[in-house]
Amino acid sequence: MHVGEATSTLFFCTLISLVEAGTGGYVTLINASPYDWNLTYSHSYQMDFKPAQLIPAGTSHEQYVEFYYNKDDAAEATYELVGSSEPASFQLQARGSGGMHLQVYYLDTLTSLNNPERSTIPLGFEHDGGVSFILAGDGIEPYISTNPPVGWMQATLSTIGPKTLREISIPASHDAGMSQVTGFYGGIPHNTNTQSGHIFDQLVNGARWFDVRPVHLGTGWYTGHFSNFITALGATGRGLIDIVADINKFTSQHPGELIVLDLTHEMDGAGVHWKWELTVEQWQYLYEVLGHIKDLWSVTSNIPQDYTSVPLSTFIHPGSKSAVLIRLPGYAPLPRASMMCEFHDGCGYSAFIHDTHFPLVGAYSDTDDKEFLVTDQITKLQSFRITSDSTMQCSVWTITLAGIWDMISFWDEACSIIGQARLAHRMLFSRLWPVINKNTYPNLIEVDDFHNSQFTALAMAINNKYAKSAPKAAGKVRR
Ligand SMILES: *[C@@H]1O[C@H](CO)[C@@H](O)[C@H](O)[C@H]1NC(C)=O
Repeated sequence: MHVGEATSTLFFCTLISLVEAGTGGYVTLINASPYDWNLTYSHSYQMDFKPAQLIPAGTSHEQYVEFYYNKDDAAEATYELVGSSEPASFQLQARGSGGMHLQVYYLDTLTSLNNPERSTIPLGFEHDGGVSFILAGDGIEPYISTNPPVGWMQATLSTIGPKTLREISIPASHDAGMSQVTGFYGGIPHNTNTQSGHIFDQLVNGARWFDVRPVHLGTGWYTGHFSNFITALGATGRGLIDIVADINKFTSQHPGELIVLDLTHEMDGAGVHWKWELTVEQWQYLYEVLGHIKDLWSVTSNIPQDYTSVPLSTFIHPGSKSAVLIRLPGYAPLPRASMMCEFHDGCGYSAFIHDTHFPLVGAYSDTDDKEFLVTDQITKLQSFRITSDSTMQCSVWTITLAGIWDMISFWDEACSIIGQARLAHRMLFSRLWPVINKNTYPNLIEVDDFHNSQFTALAMAINNKYAKSAPKAAGKVRR
């Protein structure tokens, strides 16, 4: 922690409201269709709203939007898909009434998966942050877009089913259980909560990979968000029993999705001192709780040697139930056979996987500077992902509260983890698309505050564009 950082953050968090006339934010339009988007009409009232004339096929454009009075402020921009076989266009709309928001209204014959003709797609609006609208496809099959179906994996299995986890992109939730505070250990929601919705809501919004950090207390199992100063400093979050219930509720409503819980940062706070590890017995106790997940993936043969190099159809197929996988640190014990037999048909161990059989690279940027975040995440992506089946990579688009000011300024929501997340979201929507290509794209897109399905639409657009070639042969099998 440096004084300079803390100072710049202080300026950042307070200055903006002083210099701004109205309330500004950003929208990125990502044109992953085969047609250029041409502006044919625009209008604005009490707004700073200057849409681009042309958004060529394959490119994206970030536009600044400012509401002056946020009352009856309004603006529109109509884009035509130039050369589409049937006339297709859409209108980006900004509205001050009913709370500042942006939306896209489909015109002519334009439709996309889950969004019929003449439908309105809400985009929301993030003060100083970003929202996005994406349209992806070849103009022949239905387009993929913002506001995708909840069961997005089932809906796009024809594209992603034959592909491996190394070849597809999945949206992920950072410290997914920190959607509430259940125990205060020096932290407060401002500096420990990373999510505004529980895992059930995150699943509905399309997240399928969850960073889960188990904390053992005398009263049971929780998630947590801690720093190791002199002792553990932070807070516990949602209870694991509640997370199991969230997952079971979701899989009963939307079967046929692959869900991964990635267990890291395990802690034991049941004794006199915090311990940054669990005993073998505590791991088994943890597995008993997770054993109540109904759709743990269970097979007794053909267990993959490398879970990231077998097709997604190994786990889910059309009309199947969901498959939940639990990724474990390599040093963790596996569940005991007696326990596995209680909750698996045929006592399969297949849902609990050591990270050695589930390789993943990528790391967070540990920064509160949004430009450094972009440079660092893109550098990491480009160095790890040389080909479309390079080791699975996680791109982490999160801002870390680095300055002491951020940590303690609980009266200013913009300086909280969730407040700062919207800066990272803006960077993700506007800066990732231009640098990815058929060899280099992230497999996991991990964010704080997974509060809408726009991250999912981005991953689906990547899959639509880059995960479409001939399927790979199945990977090796371990005994
Ligand atoms: C784009 O739209 C403008 C009207 O706003 C029109 O004059 C122009 O010809 C259009 N360009 C293309 C390539 O369709």
